[in-house]
Amino acid sequence: MKRTISLNGSVQKDLKKIIQAVSEIKYAHPTKSVSLTFSSNESISQNRYSEHVEISRVKRYSELKLADNGLEKQRSVLFIAGTGTVGSEILRQLAENGYEDFNPAIIGVCNSKKAVWNSNGFEKHQLLNPFEADEINKVDWDQIISRIINIEVALKIFVDATGSSQVSDIYETLLENNVSVVTPNKLANSGKLSRFKKLHSLTGSKTFYKYETTAGAGLPIINTIRNLRLTGDSVSKISGVLSGTMTYIFEAIQNGVSFSEAVKKAAEKGYSEPDPRDDLSGEDVARKFLILSRVAGYEIEREDLIVDNQTPAELRDIPLGEFFEKLPDYDKYWKEKTEEAHKNGDVLRYVGELKEGKIEVGVRAVPADSPLGNLRGTDNQVAIYTRYYQSPIIIQGPGAGKEVTAQGVIADIREIADSQ
Ligand SMILES: NC(=O)c1ccc[n+]([C@@H]2O[C@H](COP(=O)([O-])OP(=O)(O)OC[C@H]3O[C@@H](n4cnc5c(N)ncnc54)[C@H](OP(=O)(O)O)[C@@H]3O)[C@@H](O)[C@H]2O)c1
Repeated sequence: MKRTISLNGSVQKDLKKIIQAVSEIKYAHPTKSVSLTFSSNESISQNRYSEHVEISRVKRYSELKLADNGLEKQRSVLFIAGTGTVGSEILRQLAENGYEDFNPAIIGVCNSKKAVWNSNGFEKHQLLNPFEADEINKVDWDQIISRIINIEVALKIFVDATGSSQVSDIYETLLENNVSVVTPNKLANSGKLSRFKKLHSLTGSKTFYKYETTAGAGLPIINTIRNLRLTGDSVSKISGVLSGTMTYIFEAIQNGVSFSEAVKKAAEKGYSEPDPRDDLSGEDVARKFLILSRVAGYEIEREDLIVDNQTPAELRDIPLGEFFEKLPDYDKYWKEKTEEAHKNGDVLRYVGELKEGKIEVGVRAVPADSPLGNLRGTDNQVAIYTRYYQSPIIIQGPGAGKEVTAQGVIADIREIADSQ
């Protein structure tokens, strides 16, 4: 089988053409080796290149290494860390959805205890129970990093579906070694501003860092803000509700459920973090607003935020069981606060706002018939005001949940794969 392709001088596009042609041959004849022959075509030389450039290009291309294990026919290679709520749903969607033109090879998966590998890519059915694979190791991050870095394929993507700082701490090493990173984990972007900048400085035309799902899960908030900024607009204000958990709790109190019961139910249904104090403290919302403001170009540190912590001071540092036992002491306070808002035609919402470079996050009474007052369940809503959009862009929809979060992560992966 012989394929003839002509090159046009763009190294990136030419390499893509070569890889595609080789992949097609390997796909049809997986066991045959493929050789590349370069010849200087008269019309190309006359039109665009000197002989010298042609020769140096040939030398460079001749160094091209191709993997020998069948992976080259895949457009992208993934390693997925975290097999909890989001990670297992990513695996399920990758296994069960038939994506046209998109067939990534998942070569490794890990949780906090085990790592499994399949250097040819797991079969779809194996993704549903990855830890039944043959090659199971203890989690050793140095080994995982080195193994991913040394795989010889054009596009490698590391997916961090954990909430762990141990995992988010390896992003720099991966990006420095041309491994793209996709994550719903907020930790890296909501730490020091210098780190946020460093991570972005390590990206390029082949290496990407994507985190759309760190605020509003699958809702396209981060990409929208980024695109507005890239096209010369400037964001003046971002406001809204980025905590579905708190909306759920306030709605339940409005319907006559006590505060303590509402918090317990939110935890039981998996709407809140396992420890609901992470939601009540406002930390989760604060981190999301911090990320949005940085994407919008504001240089803000976590200490600059004004955050209204709803966990009473005396309940902040006690064991979770004791926290739930003492929570009914605060039912009266929340009942009265809710009734007072109701008298004025308002409802309570946990609202965040970035305005004039400052972020405030806390409980506000908003008109019951306003867009924020009308939010239901775990929906989020964000209004983005810019120089051109003085009537804001409003993005609303489910801001948590495994399906939409996993879908958002896969959309980030696809965007990277499609840009190659
Ligand atoms: N759930 C949502 O709706 C949602 C929405 C948006 C963003 N997020 C973000 O998505 C991430 C995952 O959330 P989740 O709800 O899936 O959490 P989860 O159910 O608690 O799962 C976390 C997974 O990460 C693994 N893990 C933890 N530390 C690790 C380590 N050091 N090395 C390797 N694996 C480790 C855990 O391993 P074990 O199984 O061994 O414990 C588990 O498999 C979090 O950052 C969260 O904030 C979640």
